[in-house]
Amino acid sequence: MSLIDRAEARRKSALAAMDPSEQAALGQYFTPYQAALIIAGLPRMPEVRTIRVLDPGAGSGMLTAALVDRIRAMNPDAAIDVIAVEVDEALRSALRETLSDIEALGNVQTTLVGEDFLTWALSSDERFDLVIQNPPYAKLPTGSAQQNLLRSAGIDVPNIYAAFLALGARLLAKDGQQVAITPRSWMNGTYYSRFRREFVETVGIDGIHTFESRSKVFGDTGVLQEAIVVSVTRGQRPETVKVYTSHDHRDDASLRSVAYDDVVTADFIHVPATEKDAEAVTWMTRHAHHTLADLGLTVSTGRVVDFRSRDMLHHEQIEGASPMVNASHIRNGQTRHPIGAKKPEWFHTAPEVASKLLVPAGAYVLIKRFSAKEERRRVSAGVWQSDDAVAFDNKLNYVHQSGAGLELSIARGLAVYLNSSRLDDYFRVFSGHTQVNATDLRQMRFPSLQQLRELAPVDTTSQHMIDTAVENVLTAAEIAA
Ligand SMILES: C[S@@+](CC[C@H](N)C(=O)[O-])C[C@H]1O[C@@H](n2cnc3c(N)ncnc32)[C@H](O)[C@@H]1O
Repeated sequence: MSLIDRAEARRKSALAAMDPSEQAALGQYFTPYQAALIIAGLPRMPEVRTIRVLDPGAGSGMLTAALVDRIRAMNPDAAIDVIAVEVDEALRSALRETLSDIEALGNVQTTLVGEDFLTWALSSDERFDLVIQNPPYAKLPTGSAQQNLLRSAGIDVPNIYAAFLALGARLLAKDGQQVAITPRSWMNGTYYSRFRREFVETVGIDGIHTFESRSKVFGDTGVLQEAIVVSVTRGQRPETVKVYTSHDHRDDASLRSVAYDDVVTADFIHVPATEKDAEAVTWMTRHAHHTLADLGLTVSTGRVVDFRSRDMLHHEQIEGASPMVNASHIRNGQTRHPIGAKKPEWFHTAPEVASKLLVPAGAYVLIKRFSAKEERRRVSAGVWQSDDAVAFDNKLNYVHQSGAGLELSIARGLAVYLNSSRLDDYFRVFSGHTQVNATDLRQMRFPSLQQLRELAPVDTTSQHMIDTAVENVLTAAEIAA
């Protein structure tokens, strides 16, 4: 049996012995053999005599085994110095076995640090040429000791995995590389924006491996998060990022090189895994230059949560009721109400409560937060316009202007744009989930107010008309220039 086969056998027996509640608390989802080969295969081979390796949250040592195996094959003369950090005592004997197995290769020194990685990393003077990790996944509760410790070191993250990434990057020697498998969530969204900004200032992203199948990578460990592997170098920024895509961790990957700026932007990290994705990003970057905030518009989530407001919801239009608009009212780019929907279509309550839950008369753009699997588009929008106040269901986002309605032609143009294939293709590149959150929409790019007005007359029931108009209006500026 090879070194990695033995490590895989140890991983499986450690997994079998695990207490499921403990496993979740410590984020103990171990890297399967083939995924470990992919992760260890991403970094370049450092050209130094002694390669210093760090494995934070080492588990049974699978990643270290895969990496040392690769170093030995590619650079047999290099000495290797490994530090593996693992907080769980129950895993130490498996880890110790893997480390001594690795030492038996010769010219390898290993140290097992049985401590909390966060505390250890913040006081360590060690620096590394290669950091390899599959960090634990666990939310960091506000005010917890761990979060306070991290904040005092200037690290503000909502989940422990991002703390491991930030600390791993800090512990890199000059030109040192870190490779990690993590959930994709840090790549966009406001929760991770501070972390992301500091991270991409410290390191350059060299390679990203994405898996088309969300859950298969950790199939034997129960993890359902979308996993992504990212390889970075401290203080170096390549011209292109290598983007590898495979179905899961068992099949061959395809490789594309994508311009750095098309992947790493100030707001988020795109993963254009296919030619089509890359085209979507390039088109948007060239033709749409504004955020909703730039246009003076705001997107919020509908205020009425149906199960909390049952006594306010009505199937019949009772005296004094306001329309209750939900996702079923948006179809083919239009909003129709009432439609005889299964859910209540009217809203009525005491004026003091209503004033908090209703939105004033006017024109708004509604966007579904959840798309059904069979729907062709992720983003689906329609215009709502009425002379009276209205209630929007919490499964909708709505675009407004400081709490009030929009100019009607802007609302119409915005709905056309949001229903376009260009916008949808772009949305898919950076959204790792099927929901359309208000935070995602805040980060999307939009045309100018004038261009939105030009889109207003388009028939939103025809995808072809929408796409042609968006193409014409947004590229006209460039043709004119
Ligand atoms: C997702 S598992 C990965 C294990 C191993 N690296 C692998 O790839 O198979 C994360 C590991 O981090 C360990 N861990 C969790 N919190 C830790 C902490 N604060 N300090 C050090 N290790 C920790 C867990 O016990 C677990 O072994």
